[in-house]
Amino acid sequence: MPMNSRSLALVSVLVLAAPLALAMGGRPKMDEEAANVRIQPVAKIELAAGGAKAAAGSRSGEELYKGVCGACHDAGIAGAPKTGDKAAWAPRIALGLDGLVKSAITGKNAMPPKGGSDANDEEMARVIAFMANKSGANFSAK
Ligand code: HEC
Repeated sequence: MPMNSRSLALVSVLVLAAPLALAMGGRPKMDEEAANVRIQPVAKIELAAGGAKAAAGSRSGEELYKGVCGACHDAGIAGAPKTGDKAAWAPRIALGLDGLVKSAITGKNAMPPKGGSDANDEEMARVIAFMANKSGANFSAK
């Protein structure tokens, strides 16, 4: 015999009630998860934009490096001197921090001006000191 409308209604109530009870019982956990989901994209965007959320001028060398410069300098893409490769960096380090900052701000061959970032001069000095110091230099930048 086909289901009459009353038993159909009962089935619907049961089907709806299960997730509803779960949702109500699981509320604190869901809130926590929702908060994580809300926070995550912000963290990701900050990384992708080189810490663009931090006020311009205030980013550390490491922050900028991870957000922007590492894209090429981690693996040595397009002829970029690989961070940590002392042989590749030695002749560049010889230019001094100021020389490297000038060169990086202007851009050079496949190296876009400021590495494509919106860093100001102090930030450029900071991030270049960070990279170069991992590659044999001993620069200090405020
Ligand atoms: C799109 C890839 C790319 C990105 C992103 C990039 N670089 Fe470069 N960089 C290069 C390449 C390629 C060179 C080598 C240029 C040459 O000597 O022909 C280079 C060279 C350099 C040099 C050496 C310049 C010289 O005169 O020898 C410095 C310093 C430097 N980059 C700093 C940075 C900093 C700081 C960032 C991030 C703010 C950055 N780069 C981001 C590709 C990149």
